[in-house]
Amino acid sequence: MAATLVIEGGAKLKGEVWISAAKNAALPQMCASLLTEAPLILENVPDLADVATIGKLLAGLGTRITADGSGRMALETPGLVGHEAPYDLVSTMRASVMVLGPLVARSGRARVALPGGCAIGLRPIDLHLKGLAALGAEITLNQGYVEAQAQGLRGARIRFDLVTVTGTENLMMAAVLAEGTTVLENAAREPEVVDLAHLLAKMGAKIEGAGSDRIEIEGVKELGGAQHRILPDRIEAGTYLMAGAITGGTVTVRGAIRDDMPAVLAKLEEAGATLETGSELVRVVGPERPRPTDFVTAPFPGFATDMQAQMMTLLGLADGESVVTETVFENRFMHVAELRRMGARIETEGNRAVIRGVERYLGAPVMATDLRASASLVLAGLAATGITVVSRVYHLDRGYERLEEKLGKLGASIRREP
Ligand code: UD1
Repeated sequence: MAATLVIEGGAKLKGEVWISAAKNAALPQMCASLLTEAPLILENVPDLADVATIGKLLAGLGTRITADGSGRMALETPGLVGHEAPYDLVSTMRASVMVLGPLVARSGRARVALPGGCAIGLRPIDLHLKGLAALGAEITLNQGYVEAQAQGLRGARIRFDLVTVTGTENLMMAAVLAEGTTVLENAAREPEVVDLAHLLAKMGAKIEGAGSDRIEIEGVKELGGAQHRILPDRIEAGTYLMAGAITGGTVTVRGAIRDDMPAVLAKLEEAGATLETGSELVRVVGPERPRPTDFVTAPFPGFATDMQAQMMTLLGLADGESVVTETVFENRFMHVAELRRMGARIETEGNRAVIRGVERYLGAPVMATDLRASASLVLAGLAATGITVVSRVYHLDRGYERLEEKLGKLGASIRREP
């Protein structure tokens, strides 16, 4: 029987919460272990289902992983014993495709299941493959698997047709061991891309420009070990800020890096929240009632698509009409139907959602459909009158570490039931 979260709404959240390390930085950084025989020490690794999934995948490829329970993880890949990312892992977590670049770079060979459709859209990996082909890999499709082979990769100029985060990371990891210079244009500028570049540089890679849309990589013969502390999770931080705002509470989010979340902070203020920022800290004081505002999701430094559902939930209680435009994923409004069951008035057409704010949400049984949609239902439950039961909590466990414990410490009435 899958777990549920039972939330009794109405408490104004108060206090301090510590943000875990970014899931979307931990996953590629763990994959970077495939690039070297030397040990990699990652600190602050979050205890999440997705981290366990990538660990399982890496173990099958020859990586020895030891974790001591304190967030410190040692990864060592003395030799590759496999070169495949099987369908059962890729289908539960698309980020598994990030073994492709490092495997081809280290051994000239990889076989990775095509992800197929996922709840929030088609999410193809054509740009990853096009880039690898430009680096000299031969790509074939066989039985739902992509097979890549190369006799040594060569640097190339690669211009992405659209901004892809894991695509940028995958090609960065392929290019670090390629012969010559690779230039990635229209590259993703997300903080997690920058953090991966920091780790790779510590391992001996030559990378310039991470954080801009042009990344230049000069290949090296081999990489060594490194020790790295993973950056805090800006999406988790943003979610707790929304939790403070939507309950009209006062929440200090420690580990929130202001510069990693400019658009979300700007929109929170437009919605009437008062913010105070410090070194790795953002404090929110929620408004009496949120004000309406429009926003458009976009690659960094734009408004993160991973915060869209949470912001929409806040605006669902605003005094007026807001319009949300989702430009990154084509099918990312699944939370809308569930929010409506709680009394929200939201209409969607294509990639636009029009929200007419209501005064309150009403508790209801709702079903989580994907990671961030689930977070939005929890937020709605915190603000709602009465009891909300969120089922399919495993979606939340992919990306939020000890969610009910952290919210509980802020004064929320929330408990997990089997
Ligand atoms: C990453 C994040 C995810 C976030 C997303 C957008 C990780 C592990 N996941 O996902 O949480 O929501 O960035 O910020 O870091 N696309 C193509 N072809 C490709 C690759 C992507 O058409 O080869 C499209 C996708 O369908 C999507 C858009 O590009 O419409 C952006 O996707 P992308 O940035 O690649 O998302 P992910 O890296 O999968």
